Amino acid sequence: MSETAKLIYEGKEYEIPVITGSEGEKALDISKLRGATGYITLDSGFVNTGSCKSSITFLDGEKGILRYRGYPIEQLAEHSTFLEVAYLLIYGQLPTEAEYKEFKHIVTHHTMIHEDLKRLYDGFRKDSHPMAILSSMICTLSGYYGESMDPLNERHQEISIYRLIAKTPTIAAYSFKKSIGQPFIYPKNSLSYVANFINMMFSVPTEDYYIDPVVERALDLLLILHADHEQNCSASTVRLVGSSHANIYVSVASGVNALWGPLHGGANQAVIEMLKEIHEAGGDIKKFVDKAKDKTSGFRLMGFGHRVYKNFDPRAVIIKKAADDVLTKLDIHDPLLDIAKELEEVALSDEYFLEKKLYPNVDFYSGIIYKALRIPVEMFTVMFALGRMPGWIAQWREMIYDKETKIGRPRQIFTGENKREYVKIAQRT
Ligand code: ACO
Repeated sequence: MSETAKLIYEGKEYEIPVITGSEGEKALDISKLRGATGYITLDSGFVNTGSCKSSITFLDGEKGILRYRGYPIEQLAEHSTFLEVAYLLIYGQLPTEAEYKEFKHIVTHHTMIHEDLKRLYDGFRKDSHPMAILSSMICTLSGYYGESMDPLNERHQEISIYRLIAKTPTIAAYSFKKSIGQPFIYPKNSLSYVANFINMMFSVPTEDYYIDPVVERALDLLLILHADHEQNCSASTVRLVGSSHANIYVSVASGVNALWGPLHGGANQAVIEMLKEIHEAGGDIKKFVDKAKDKTSGFRLMGFGHRVYKNFDPRAVIIKKAADDVLTKLDIHDPLLDIAKELEEVALSDEYFLEKKLYPNVDFYSGIIYKALRIPVEMFTVMFALGRMPGWIAQWREMIYDKETKIGRPRQIFTGENKREYVKIAQRT
């Protein structure tokens, strides 16, 4: 028997259907509420609002659980690769050997970008933020593939998905090369997905370049951990833009823009900047913790807190260990890692952070690994975008196939002026 909840207001009773997810989570289905009652619901920041049903990623913020298509993030981090995870997220199942081989082959053979697109990089200032370049270039792909980007055509979808997964590393690496004035390095089909990206980032045409397997594995791990996170700000943006049947390139480019903000993916850059600031100010951690507690300071501990995780972020646990491993293996001593660990310890024994359930999130330690891998700070959020690409695609694809999808169009409670008469400019006081 289907469950219902009751809403009683102004002497009338309304039945509200209760929806239950596969992990037992409950929702009140208010899709017919306005039609029946004339009321809407108001929920700033969508803290209590589900925008869709989804079978891609499950997370339980209280228990610190994260699963892609049912597989725990810890198992994927240990055994899988980023490309395999991409396949899993987009198509719903881990690939067979034959499927994986084919997917890898297709992605590998779509990595080059059009030569004309390369020339667009010249239009950017040398110091343009690589996120600005990334989102512009992904958007611009839609100008190059007009013949195959009908969002409702399955074959078009398929080709666009391959192109996005394959070309994003090339676009990202070129934005770095542009910023340091080095020649762009063409993709190399003999390399793995991640090794190819590293090669395009760091090699130069004049020399052979050795790709350290420690670096390759660490980067692969970071991309896996960032690959999806259900209805976060950027994924919701991708879905919202895509719900108008805008093509997948512009939908995903909108996700890149949403990710850029320091309250979302931009936090990884902000964390390193904050750790540097603490270091340069003499390492007085308590001073910064006190400042974060002082509401008038406008300062927050970057990399702390999460809308959903209220106990711990399982990705942060994996990343913290990986940061230790990578720095040891590469024989790097980074004082910022020491500051990060101390800061975590101080904050987690402080009543303010405990009471508000503020724990380190995925971005708290990721920047330390990126830094050890010689990835410049401005590229950190680009790395996040590279990892999140399959998640955005999976969310977009699910939205397009979902029969319940409607164009995203929230309502509002109007709080402005009531009707008033126009006053000519000479009569205004
Ligand atoms: N430092 C100090 N205080 C904080 C912090 C922080 N990092 N985060 C939240 N708080 C406080 C708020 O001031 C608020 O206090 P109040 O209840 O007394 O007003 C309370 O904790 C709740 O914070 P909200 O901003 O309401 O929580 P919300 O769920 O809206 O925000 C967010 C979550 C944006 C992640 C927030 O914790 C934050 O700004 N963190 C720092 C930025 C960051 O690390 N972002 C990355 C998130 S992970 C990701 O996107 C990949």
